[in-house]
Amino acid sequence: MSLFDKFSQFAELKQRFDNGGILPFGVVTEKILSPTEAIVNGQKVILAGTNNYLGLTFDPEAITAAQEAVSENGTGTTGSRMANGTFADHIRLEQELAEFFGTRAAIIFSTGYAATMGTSATLAGPGDVIMLDADSHASIYDGVRLSGAEIIRFRHNDPSDLEKRLRRLNNRDGDTLIIVEGIYSMLGDVAPLADIAALKREYGAYLLVDEAHSMGVMGDKGRGAAEAAGIEADADFLVGTFSKSLGSIGGYCVSNHAELELIRFATRAYIFTASASPSVIASTRTTLRLLRERPELQQKLWKNARHLYAELKALGFDIGPQVSPVVAVRSTDSDKAIRWWEELFALGIFVNLVIPPASPAGYSLLRCSISAAHSEAEVRQIVAAYATLEQ
Ligand SMILES: Cc1ncc(COP(=O)(O)O)c(C=O)c1O
Repeated sequence: MSLFDKFSQFAELKQRFDNGGILPFGVVTEKILSPTEAIVNGQKVILAGTNNYLGLTFDPEAITAAQEAVSENGTGTTGSRMANGTFADHIRLEQELAEFFGTRAAIIFSTGYAATMGTSATLAGPGDVIMLDADSHASIYDGVRLSGAEIIRFRHNDPSDLEKRLRRLNNRDGDTLIIVEGIYSMLGDVAPLADIAALKREYGAYLLVDEAHSMGVMGDKGRGAAEAAGIEADADFLVGTFSKSLGSIGGYCVSNHAELELIRFATRAYIFTASASPSVIASTRTTLRLLRERPELQQKLWKNARHLYAELKALGFDIGPQVSPVVAVRSTDSDKAIRWWEELFALGIFVNLVIPPASPAGYSLLRCSISAAHSEAEVRQIVAAYATLEQ
């Protein structure tokens, strides 16, 4: 018996993929050519799984802002927000996020993972109940495990199952926090937020929505799925990331509850880690402004999403249940999914391969996340590559 025995499963997994060719989980991007193209493992590819929804990673204004910030304020803050790591721009970004979401306050985190994990771990505690969607992201699962609250899962995107479980609580003591996502990262389906918000009201629960994949993607103002569903007033907490539509790294939690300011003092993922670098904050402030100034990016994103979704569906693939910028082809045969991934890569299309247990319901996924920056020709190239796969 050794400390390392439990890792042998990963050695087997690695061997399964390591066919002397490319390891899907270890590809190296040697050069990024644009938001949609790169040299990966020596080959020029179209990036079709980057979550770069608005394609802003190479925006000249964002790059200049980051360059100026690194020159003026250095490469890193070298400390926690609670110690020496709060610079004026961290506060400005929090104010701008609160203004964007129309909330009383915002807290920013060093990663989206820290935002979701930290809030999921802190808001509810011993004696409380957390009801979470069964397909929740790992950051939510990790957080709720730390919370000390009772954890109850409900069937993915199934308000009637949620209601059944809320009813069973039977007015017991303690608070209930419901946690859902906006767009789900694996299949691209959207939470039925209007129904979930109605249940939250009926049962006197709190609601947290993780908008990691929906901020900048949904809603007239780009605020996310809660905005699109018209339930922002019911969402006690909205969390999200800077690593997708905003093209950098970091995360946020916004709320109208005055206590948000106090939650800072209790959230270990906020306190015990260094704050985001000045360049990251500067580019994020810029891309948040660009998201507001350029609604046409969201329109282009959805045009590309509709195009890709319709074409892959027409090819007969089993894809996610609704059109969204996350377009995932499902297979119950993981060997086939790996083969498909390799064939797509050989044709210059780089998508995400997701296999169980990382994917929901035992499926393996070839997951595309389309961008506003993809040209029509690039979407056609992606479709043409999928068309060559033997189903
Ligand atoms: C739903 C969800 N929440 C949180 C995160 C974490 O965000 P980040 O990767 O920016 O840390 C992700 C990342 O994929 C996500 O999909």
